[in-house]
Amino acid sequence: MPTQRFTVLPSSEATAAPIRDDILANPGFGRYFTDHMAHVRWTLDAGWHGHEVHPYGPLTLDPAAAVLHYAQEIFEGIKAYRHDDGSVWAFRPEKNAERFRRSARRLALPELSDDDFVDSLKALLAQDHAWVPTPATAAEESSLYLRPFMIASETFLGVRPSHEVDYYVIASPAAAYFKGGIAPVSIWLSSHYKRAAAGGTGFAKCGGNYAASLAAQKEAEANDCSQVAFLDAAENKWIEELGGMNLFFVYRDGRLVTPQLTDTILEGVTRDSVLTLAREEGLTPEERPISLDEWREGAASGDITEVFACGTAAVITPVGELVTEDDTIRLDAGGDNEVAKRLRGHLLDLQYGRREDTHGWLTRL
Ligand code: COI
Repeated sequence: MPTQRFTVLPSSEATAAPIRDDILANPGFGRYFTDHMAHVRWTLDAGWHGHEVHPYGPLTLDPAAAVLHYAQEIFEGIKAYRHDDGSVWAFRPEKNAERFRRSARRLALPELSDDDFVDSLKALLAQDHAWVPTPATAAEESSLYLRPFMIASETFLGVRPSHEVDYYVIASPAAAYFKGGIAPVSIWLSSHYKRAAAGGTGFAKCGGNYAASLAAQKEAEANDCSQVAFLDAAENKWIEELGGMNLFFVYRDGRLVTPQLTDTILEGVTRDSVLTLAREEGLTPEERPISLDEWREGAASGDITEVFACGTAAVITPVGELVTEDDTIRLDAGGDNEVAKRLRGHLLDLQYGRREDTHGWLTRL
């Protein structure tokens, strides 16, 4: 068993079952955490070592730890799903492991092996299995959200890659990311703020990208929108992505368009899965640049019938309108967001084991 690499220090203060069950009945998103966390340490001299699962709790960091000053940090998001027979599965964790290594390279952090990455999830779940919610109905999308992250922990204020790094996994029971479930969300178009520029860190899953999106997120909330859509930094013309989700456009003729991957766009695991499932659903996926003008004109003419956002946390969520400083682009021709709902149902059925896993996308935890 590879997870034997992880020494287990069980919590002596594990949450009592009735309290845990209350939390699992209404977990929200990112508010509650399980009893344990996984940890692996890296030093320049010794490499990765000290694989451990120990009680969940605060980290002890020196105030001069590099991550607190220069944001040398990356993370991932993965969900664990409970199937009807009680077993627990992760969806394509090897894709997250691969992206984590890509992010690490960009942030000058050490690469964690895919085996260590996947085994850290297994080792944590071996302790906190009971924290994976059992969805009451097929419509309910409860899961255990796993958050692996890596930080530069060396006590040093010089600006260079840290010689000491810590990798952790924490886990949080989760319901739908958006309060309205799959009700269409309103998106704010940031005309001023940019998320990423060529040569920067846009393709990496690092905290800095999310920090950079927050001023625009405040604008969005002031305009009654729940997310921000970002345009490219060079021409202020091309749709890139939301603060933490990829975007798809459904055309009346069956095309499904999403911005092609560049170094300013995060390669979403859900995005990649949607491209595959779309073909199986008889759609024609296209990865290419799509401009704000094309969105505006397509919505007005009815050629674009739906827009949806996707990500691990959000699954697939329809976009009802794009609010800009000048106008509001509504999607009136789409009827009931039928394509988004169909793809979402297909994806969730795979994740919850209600449909045969013909792609080999599930890993038992
Ligand atoms: C995820 O979908 O896992 C993310 O990291 C995005 C964030 C909005 C929660």
